[in-house]
Amino acid sequence: MSGPEEEDNDVRAPSAKKAIIAQLFSTPVARIACPYAAEFNGPLVELVLARLDPLQKRLGYKSETPDDLAHWGDPVVDSLSQWVLRAARQFTETITRRSLADAFADSAARMSGGAVNGGAGTGGEGSVAVVVSRSWASVYRKGDRHEAHFHPNTALTAIYYAEAPGKCELDLLDPRPNVDYFDPGISLAGSGHRVRLSCSPGELVLFPGWLKHAVPEFNDGSVRISISWNLNYASES
Ligand SMILES: [Fe+2]
Repeated sequence: MSGPEEEDNDVRAPSAKKAIIAQLFSTPVARIACPYAAEFNGPLVELVLARLDPLQKRLGYKSETPDDLAHWGDPVVDSLSQWVLRAARQFTETITRRSLADAFADSAARMSGGAVNGGAGTGGEGSVAVVVSRSWASVYRKGDRHEAHFHPNTALTAIYYAEAPGKCELDLLDPRPNVDYFDPGISLAGSGHRVRLSCSPGELVLFPGWLKHAVPEFNDGSVRISISWNLNYASES
């Protein structure tokens, strides 16, 4: 038998058995080994360095080629880009658990205030494509670095590592800006951390274009070469 006092001491709320804890606002990041790396990387390094010299875009913290890599007309670059586009499609479809066309249709409906979910299925395979907006190569030499930045107007950022004497480090920054304004003593969700990826030449990294990232200082006498693509979705219907 329990009286009112005992009930007051019972801290379990009636709905406690139904409580759930959700981890929200997660950020997908993929690392994918390119099966053609051994074939591609040598020619890529030669090509990038050759393109860099006459048209060098020295930024003070690294060097970049022009951002029209898709128009170089090089078969290795084109093959790599096609592989990156396929990987980006698979990345999106894996995350959304939908075809690219259906995911695109769902997002369009959400943006216009229409129905979400419900199995769209209106687009059909191939009616939406992943396309390259800009692509370029970055060359880092001793002392070079790239401060935190993101890629505006970009659905997916793709970075492929073509050359390095060791690991290619890439820092990913916590995308939740307010976590930097207070230290609660206990971090429940890795609050405010940078996550450092240590990639190898031949690896592709994919993440949303809004995710800030940075390249820590490169401290070797050789070169670190990466290729970047700003990717978007385009309806072909
Ligand atoms: Fe970047």
